[in-house]
Amino acid sequence: MKVMTVFGTRPEGIKMAPIVKELESRENVESIVCITAQHREMLDQVLNLFKIEPDYDLNIFKPGQSLTEITNRALKGLEEIIIKEKPDVLLVQGDTTTVFAGALAAFYQRVKVGHVEAGLRSGNIYSPYPEEANRKLTGIITEYHFAPTERNVENLLKEGYSEEKIYITGNTVIDALKYTIQDDYVFENDLLNKLDFEKNRIILLTSHRRENIGKPMENIFTAIKDIVQKYEDVQVVFPIHLNPKVREIAEKVLDGNNRIHIIEPLEYEPFTNLMNKVHLVVTDSGGLQEEAPTLGKPVLVVREETERPEGIESGTAKLMGTSYEKLYSELEKLLSDKEEYNLMTKAVNPYGDGFAAKRIVDILLK
Ligand code: UD1
Ligand code: UDP
Repeated sequence: MKVMTVFGTRPEGIKMAPIVKELESRENVESIVCITAQHREMLDQVLNLFKIEPDYDLNIFKPGQSLTEITNRALKGLEEIIIKEKPDVLLVQGDTTTVFAGALAAFYQRVKVGHVEAGLRSGNIYSPYPEEANRKLTGIITEYHFAPTERNVENLLKEGYSEEKIYITGNTVIDALKYTIQDDYVFENDLLNKLDFEKNRIILLTSHRRENIGKPMENIFTAIKDIVQKYEDVQVVFPIHLNPKVREIAEKVLDGNNRIHIIEPLEYEPFTNLMNKVHLVVTDSGGLQEEAPTLGKPVLVVREETERPEGIESGTAKLMGTSYEKLYSELEKLLSDKEEYNLMTKAVNPYGDGFAAKRIVDILLK
């Protein structure tokens, strides 16, 4: 069987890597890896860590790329490769523009699509934007829906997808996490090695969502800045996304505070080990909402909606919205009330057991 995997951004790389490794380990599979490189540096970090050498690299990344440009370049580049390779199945992962373009390019050549991390829905087509739409558009042309959780299966059934095409697998992010976490981990980054995780309460912050750019992101960063001013033992580490629009807002609001450390995006291994040591997480990321509950870290989700309600139902995550007041008061509560904090620290595992990649490859081979 010839399986082509297509991915383009950091999170897709992280979550597709365990599948690529699993495919490579099977004798009866020919694995073809094609990256669009919608992200360049951030994806290359992931390829290095997991030692993946792509067979094809479309190298579509351009600074300031628009959604239309990403779609056009990926679709055009993939056409040729799919015609040449004629895979039996093409796998995409998640919700980015690469995912939608990859699925569409396969469909145009009548190649079966496998959608990894299928069935996540926020219910609002504009949040996350454009990811909610990318998932739905991909679903329509998918042959194998690999749904991480029971709820994701239900979402697909509600939309009328046939039960025989839906498989519950867990999320491969847990497979990837198992690959990197070490309790005695030592960072290569000086700043991180010098942090005192016992004496100080460290908040890990990430934010990059398109719908948050502007006022919502300003609110989030201002609440963080004010909380750091209120609690002397609190520090913030913010590995900042490469998007210049995010950097501009961070510079405006957060610069000049010596307890707020803005650093370059970390490689996946130091990043997850940092998450494993911090006091709590504030994020608008999708992947972090899955990783933090697994590690028992309270996570405040700075979004209006989430397509990952499992972490919230289990009590480790809370949905904040993006107003200053809500985030500030919730942080205040968690930093001053130990019981409230402890309630959110139970490690739960709604997203999988670390064997999702093996299940997905087994299903394909059947
Ligand atoms: C994309 C995905 C989003 C995913 C996120 C993960 C879409 C529409 N969005 O959003 O679903 O959650 O990746 O991070 O597919 N940049 C660089 N180098 C890089 C990567 C990004 O310089 O390696 C900068 C560029 O200026 C680029 C900007 O970041 O224009 C935005 O990148 P883009 O892929 O368009 O969107 P993301 O916000 O990263
Ligand atoms: N991540 C990383 N380095 C960083 C920040 C995040 O390796 O500096 C990882 C993180 O562990 C998670 C993924 O990148 O697996 C999330 O990516 P992002 O938030 O960009 O995208 P999303 O999950 O929202 O699609």
